[in-house]
This record gives sequence, C-alpha cells and structure tokens, in this order.
Amino acid sequence: MNLSEVQAQKRRYGIVGNSEGVNHAVNVALQVAKTDLSVLITGESGVGKEAIPRIIHDNSLRKSKKYFAVNCGSIPEGTIDSELFGHEKGAFTGAVGEREGYFGAANGGTLFLDEVGELPLATQARLLRVLETGEYIRVGSSEVRKTDVRIVAATNVNMAKAIRDGRFREDLFYRLNTIPIKMPALRERGDDVVLLFKKFAMDTAEKYNMPEPVELTEAAQMRLKKYPWPGNVRQLKNLTEQISILSPERVITPEVLDDYVPDTPTSHDIVPVNTRNESHSFENEREILYKILFDLRNDVMELKKQMQSQRGAADMTGVPMKSSQQERPITYYHQDVTYPVAHTSKNDEEFQTPEEYIEETLSLDDWERQMVIKALEKNKGKRKLAAQDLKISERTLYRKIKEYGLDKDFDE
Ligand SMILES: Nc1ncnc2c1ncn2[C@@H]1O[C@H](COP(=O)(O)OP(=O)(O)O)[C@@H](O)[C@H]1O
Ligand SMILES: [Mg+2]
Repeated sequence: MNLSEVQAQKRRYGIVGNSEGVNHAVNVALQVAKTDLSVLITGESGVGKEAIPRIIHDNSLRKSKKYFAVNCGSIPEGTIDSELFGHEKGAFTGAVGEREGYFGAANGGTLFLDEVGELPLATQARLLRVLETGEYIRVGSSEVRKTDVRIVAATNVNMAKAIRDGRFREDLFYRLNTIPIKMPALRERGDDVVLLFKKFAMDTAEKYNMPEPVELTEAAQMRLKKYPWPGNVRQLKNLTEQISILSPERVITPEVLDDYVPDTPTSHDIVPVNTRNESHSFENEREILYKILFDLRNDVMELKKQMQSQRGAADMTGVPMKSSQQERPITYYHQDVTYPVAHTSKNDEEFQTPEEYIEETLSLDDWERQMVIKALEKNKGKRKLAAQDLKISERTLYRKIKEYGLDKDFDE
C-alpha cells in the first residue's frame, strides 16, 4: 500500500481515521480508479461510503468528464427507469419533453448508484444490459443507444439475503461486484472514534465561533470506544455536535456522555447492553451480542429438538446432513411442510422454507464455531473456564469441540 498517497487522499476528502479497514478501502479505490471496472461499496449506513466513488472518479482517466451520484432508494419506482435511461416525448402521461437520463448524460464519465440494493427488478434488468453491452433504450423508444459509463455502486443492504429473497438479481450482483470495497463499521475502527470526535468537535466550534472545542477525558474516550455505534460516523457526528452545542461542561466525562449516548442502540435495539458493568467476561458489546445470539441459538436448537420428538418419525425425511451434524437430533422436513421459527427479520414472514432453514442453520454453525474458538482462545484452552463463559456445561463444550474438529487445536 502506498500509505503516503492514501493519507493524501484522506486529507483531500476530509476522511479522518487511521484504522486499517479505512486505509485499505481508500487504497483499493486508488488502485482501481484508472481501470473501468465496476466497484461495489458495502457497509452499514453512516460509515462514509460516499467519499469512495469521488476518490475513484477524481483519480480516473474520466476525471474531466461528468460525475453523477444517484440515490436509487429515493427515486419513486414509477420514474426510476426514465431518470436513469431517459424517455421520449409522450412516453407516458406527463412526459411533455424528452429526457436524456443519467446513462446518457454521464457518457464518458462515472455514475455513482447509491443504495443500489433498492432498485426494482425491472430496472435491474436494464442496468445489467447496459453494463454488459453499453446499450440502453429510453423509455418509450425502440432505438438502441450506446453509452460509456463507469459504474460505482454502494449498498448497506445484505446482498446475499436480497438475492436469496429474490429481490436482487444474482447476475447483476456479480457484475457490479467486480471490485468489492468494504467500509468497516465504526465500532471496528478502534481509536478512530476519538479522532473523529475531535474533528467534529473542532468543526462545530469553528462553525459556531465557540472559544474552544469540547474535549474528552480518558474515561470518556474509553466509553466511546466501547459503544457499538449502530449509526456509525453519522451518529457520532450528530452526537458530537449536540454535545458541543448543548453541554455546559467543556471537558466531557462519561457521566456527561451518558446524557447523550443512548443506552441501547436504537437500530439494533435487541440487546440491552450495560457498558458500565466491567465484570462481564467479554470485551465489548459486539461480543455480548454474540453471546446473546449464542444463547438464543441454543434455545432454538432445544425447541427444534422438542418439536422433532413431538412430530414423531412419520413425517420426517432423511435429507442428508453435513457429517458434523450427524449426531445432532435435527431433521429437515418435507418441502411442503413449513414451521414457525423465532423471528429473525422485521418482515412478516412467519415461516421459513426448508432451504432457508438449512442455510441459516449452516451459517449459525459457523458462528457458533467462532464463539467456541473465541472462548477457548480467551481462556487459553481451559475448557472449564471456556464452558463457564459460554454458559454451557463442560460436557456440551466437549461435544462441540469434537463436532467442530477443534480437538487438535485446543488440546488441554
Ligand atoms: N472517516 C470519516 N471522516 C470524516 N467524516 C466522515 C467519515 N466517514 C463518514 N463521515 C461523515 O459521516 C457522514 C455519513 O457519511 P456517508 O458517506 O453519507 O455515509 P454512508 O453513505 O455510508 O451512509 C457524512 O457527513 C460524512 O461526511
Ligand atoms: Mg449514503
């Protein structure tokens, strides 16, 4: 990585932070800028995805040409095709004049498709075509037009799930994702939280002619580093502005922060996190979240076991299992049988298909394995202590170690 170039770009675009994840993202953006490859930026809301397409465009051979940023999530479904691809006069009611559309207007330049996961399926088909052939057709026209546009897209949607749910075309995903760039969540950036707080505090002080910016005590810095930041940098920015303007104290202690930082993250409000309790055995909220999921998962497994024994053997089939699951009392049901599961999404799907169930179970296995590894590593392989951390019996842990093939790595 050319670190000095990365630092220069960060300065140019006001990107604060030295964490590896951010440096990596900027570096990849620089490396691919001069190519015409499509880039897909992923990351939670508020992580700073919007700086990346600018870096790409401004460092590309297209920099003297047009750059457009389109927020696909904010354009109504009825007009999005015409916004992107243009329309002919009279193409639909209200189309008094013709319209060029972004793909025409950005010819030779770069188009940033923000929130691309929100595109309707019909628009996805048009987009795939223009990406593959450089050709598109205006709404209400039959004339094929050519354009040369470089696409950078961004999403905070879980694309794997969107594809599974049939909301996003898999072929388009692969086409967009030629170069993936992941912007890390703020809670994964360590000291960056403090640097960003300082920056936003200085910006606010300057903007409002305050004699001096607010400052954090050491303990307050720790508190910010431990907070999970569901709204990421955007949330930190708002919070810093609020504190700067509202707090009579200029030296910010954890007690002052308590008045501003919500106890429970609003967008992930499933986890009641007590950050003041230092006695918990995991280092941060993320791990507590895993812990809660781990417990939840064991409960679900238990429930499924009970369901299975209640249903009896009659309506079960022998869908093959992973060998690691052979000893597990889980059986998958016939295609046409659905059954309730614990609510995992905000949608009103009460039922899961067997495929979804299998997939979910497999990925749950993955992170259960991670949990077991984490607990063992933390306790230097001591199974008794690891079992205590995981709140499972030593016997269960022993079984899981075997099941996940960890006995060689963690031999007591
Ligand atoms: N590393 C950073 N340094 C400074 N400001 C940042 C940084 N990351 C994000 N921001 C600011 O946070 C806000 C949200 O960023 P944005 O790019 O809109 O997020 P996203 O598009 O990922 O939701 C913007 O005001 C942006 O300027
Ligand atoms: Mg955004």
